[in-house]
Amino acid sequence: MRMRNKPWANDFLNQHPKATTNPIDLKGSWKASYSKVILEIGSGKGGYLFDLATLHQNQRYIALEKDRNVSATALRHHDVLGLENLLWINNGAESIQTWFEKGELDEIHLNFSDPWPKKHHEKRRLTSKTFMPIFIDLLRPEGLIKFKTDNQKLFEYTILQMQVYPLEMTFFSVNYIHSLEEEDAYTEYEMKFNALNQPIYRAVWRKK
Ligand SMILES: C[S@@+](CC[C@H](N)C(=O)[O-])C[C@H]1O[C@@H](n2cnc3c(N)ncnc32)[C@H](O)[C@@H]1O
Repeated sequence: MRMRNKPWANDFLNQHPKATTNPIDLKGSWKASYSKVILEIGSGKGGYLFDLATLHQNQRYIALEKDRNVSATALRHHDVLGLENLLWINNGAESIQTWFEKGELDEIHLNFSDPWPKKHHEKRRLTSKTFMPIFIDLLRPEGLIKFKTDNQKLFEYTILQMQVYPLEMTFFSVNYIHSLEEEDAYTEYEMKFNALNQPIYRAVWRKK
């Protein structure tokens, strides 16, 4: 997700009470008194986590988004909602292991991650071996990885990648229809692809 440059974004993020400028300071204590710690990587404008955090106020949600213009837009909305249980990290997943202890996360959500279709960009895909061993380390046993995409090739790639890790697939759909019974919410991209009648691919894995 790209956005026009917002000259006010840096200052806004640096002073925002819900934007963690030094996430390393929270290493080991993200859970506090919450029942779960759930991280979404590549949160975009945050609609997905805003909805989940509203529905489950006993759970700690963390949004990780590398684009400061997108993060600033999301946090303006956060101000309106006033959610206590949602923290924002404006940074890239490349540094993630410095902010969380091993086993500290209950769930990692990847929604409409950038596909990086060229072979020589494979290492940038969030489900490539650059990131996956680290994500698995940060998940607790029985922790979940939830993945949604519109991109069939990225979905197929991800399904194959996941087979080499100690994961058990618990959900698979190549035409996912949002269900209110699931702990799930729409993302901005999901709504866009739904409106175009394009299929959504979704899978969930549990760490063994
Ligand atoms: C296609 S958008 C999807 C946004 C949202 N998840 C949705 O479904 O509507 C992908 C987002 O992931 C962010 N992103 C991509 N790579 C990232 C990384 N390595 N670390 C953090 N954010 C990343 C991009 O800046 C972009 O906002």
